[in-house]
Amino acid sequence: MNPTATIDRSRIKALMEREHRLFAQRNPKSYELYQRAKNSLLAGVPMHWMTRWPGGFPIFVAEARGATFRDVDGNEYIDFCLGDTGAMTGHSPEAALPGIVAQLHKGITTMLPSENAFWVAEELQRRFGLRYWQFALSATDANRFSLRLARAVTGRPKVLVFHGCYHGTVDEAYAWLVDGKPASRPGNIGPQVDPTLTSKVVEWNDIEALEEALRPGDVAAVLAEPVMTNVGIVQPLPGYHQALRELTRKYDTLLIIDETHTLSAGPGGYTRAHGLQPDILTVGKPLGSGIPSAAYGFSEEVGQRAQASINPTTADTGGIGGTLAANALSLAAMRATLEHVLTEEAYARMIPLAERFEAGAMGVMERYRLPWHVTRVGCRVEYLFRPNPARNGSEALAGQDPDLDPFIHLFMLNRGLLLTPFHNMALISPETTQAQVDRHTEVFEEAVHNLLN
Ligand SMILES: Cc1ncc(COP(=O)(O)O)c(C=O)c1O
Repeated sequence: MNPTATIDRSRIKALMEREHRLFAQRNPKSYELYQRAKNSLLAGVPMHWMTRWPGGFPIFVAEARGATFRDVDGNEYIDFCLGDTGAMTGHSPEAALPGIVAQLHKGITTMLPSENAFWVAEELQRRFGLRYWQFALSATDANRFSLRLARAVTGRPKVLVFHGCYHGTVDEAYAWLVDGKPASRPGNIGPQVDPTLTSKVVEWNDIEALEEALRPGDVAAVLAEPVMTNVGIVQPLPGYHQALRELTRKYDTLLIIDETHTLSAGPGGYTRAHGLQPDILTVGKPLGSGIPSAAYGFSEEVGQRAQASINPTTADTGGIGGTLAANALSLAAMRATLEHVLTEEAYARMIPLAERFEAGAMGVMERYRLPWHVTRVGCRVEYLFRPNPARNGSEALAGQDPDLDPFIHLFMLNRGLLLTPFHNMALISPETTQAQVDRHTEVFEEAVHNLLN
């Protein structure tokens, strides 16, 4: 067998310096705007995590359309980040715009239902197989409200999450394992309560640890992505989902499946693609083509119990809601997206393109004998700079590469390709083309060539 290639770390450092210079040359206007923004925006950005983009400052976007965008310096990009899934539909998708624009002229929010509400609920019922639906404006809120309801219906205090998870800014999901013990996730900003008091945390794919945590009977719900996607993609091992479902049933714990990212697996997410049977399902991000929208659905039984647990006279202040939740614009956007954009036909195009992306990146790794791998959930693909797929959060975290991850991002950015930040993830939208996917393979090969020569 051929020996694997190794990368000289000092070479990455030199290349990074070159890429930083190139980035500064390409983006003078973004730099100027960033300096100006520091006068009014904390850290010069409207959302603090935008400081984490590689390059030293974020690029400012002038216009985004389909699977591309242009920045204020006139650079054109192929967008594989797609607003970290918020724009998995493609930016401002033509097919959704008529429904969204029409609603803009007919009232944006009224705090009353519109007919679109049950159209969307019936469509979600059809796609995910859950009976009753409610709406929110972010996947974070859909998760938070689901956890509240899970505690209300079970009368139990705790939630179980998986090490390395991310479900939005949901306090209970900020429990991680640190040195193998439950602790607050690193960087948890001003927690109102120690998350180890609210949550149990175990490794993904560890059936024994899961059962041990559920056995005392104090866990209201397990909150899980069906495939972990926020610490790199970590697939379930064969049989894991079956065990997860059997054990949650055995200990009367509700199973909440968060499909916000795994909606990439198909029109009914991973749940439909793999026949999962959650008690509650949450989804957000691209549901309204980028117009803030999210939904959470319940099985028949849990829906009935949830309804019984809400006191109608205090429902407005019970801790679940939001004045703008389920607003008319959001519902029109969800309808337009589900009816015309994230359709069966769209997925039939997107998934083969993602397979092409995967094969392209894998081909480069094989040609250059790199001990790396590629993994995929439907139209979401990721490459990791380690030989084998991680089986849990700890392995995935250990496999992150603080040199290579930012290098690949910056190298791509300087050549007009945007990957999802903080890991090497690419999403395919209904408007992404084969030529754009092939361009990625080409630039990836160029990056590897630079690293090795
Ligand atoms: C699986 C998952 N759930 C929920 C969320 C929260 O989404 P939002 O930030 O739109 O509330 C995220 C965000 O990345 C996510 O990855």
